[in-house]
Amino acid sequence: MTSPRQNTLPEATTQSEPVLRQPAVGDGAGMWRVARDSVRLDLNPPYAYLLWARDFADTSVVADVDGEVAGFVTGFRRPNSPQTLMVWQVAVDERLRGRGVASRLLEHLVERTDATTLETTITDDNPASRSLFAGLARRHGAEHTVDPLFEADQFPDEDPWKPEFLHRIAPLNHAH
Ligand SMILES: CC(C)(COP(=O)(O)OP(=O)(O)OC[C@H]1O[C@@H](n2cnc3c(N)ncnc32)[C@H](O)[C@@H]1OP(=O)(O)O)[C@@H](O)C(=O)NCCC(=O)NCCS
Repeated sequence: MTSPRQNTLPEATTQSEPVLRQPAVGDGAGMWRVARDSVRLDLNPPYAYLLWARDFADTSVVADVDGEVAGFVTGFRRPNSPQTLMVWQVAVDERLRGRGVASRLLEHLVERTDATTLETTITDDNPASRSLFAGLARRHGAEHTVDPLFEADQFPDEDPWKPEFLHRIAPLNHAH
């Protein structure tokens, strides 16, 4: 069994401008590492990121710095509402945060998918994530609603889960 590689993003390249692109299977391990190192995200098994990079590449994006994944957004089209992009996870390597990378990843994905509505869930204790999605709504002049989606007691009882609030942003404006 191999131990997980450390994040290999070279210190010097964190000043580079990331290239935003669709993920490939080869990015799955890097996406998992960025999720792991974010500490905040619920870390899914590496398999989930590999599968996502294969089957949901059209609705996902990575920030590539010299061939290494430095950030990502995973998403899917809601099966009963294909114009709705459901954003599952967003993370940016902490050395690149505060430079608009997450905002650009979201804008890139909205543009590429031509989605008219974006949904995501956020816990109340994540101000960075709330600002990120509020900023998207503001730039698009869209309505931004927040409603309870999953209550803490709907999760399995082994962990102290927090309620997840559904943020819905629409309509997205593709003209700007
Ligand atoms: C949330 C996260 C993806 C933001 O990435 P980022 O590249 O730093 O975000 P941006 O630079 O594009 O900033 C987006 C907005 O959030 C605000 N913001 C960023 N970090 C913030 C913080 N720690 N506290 C409050 N606001 C913050 C920015 O000011 C900006 O607001 P604006 O549009 O009003 O100017 C990043 O902090 C992260 O990876 N966090 C850990 C994982 C996580 O919590 N993911 C979200 C849950 S799925």
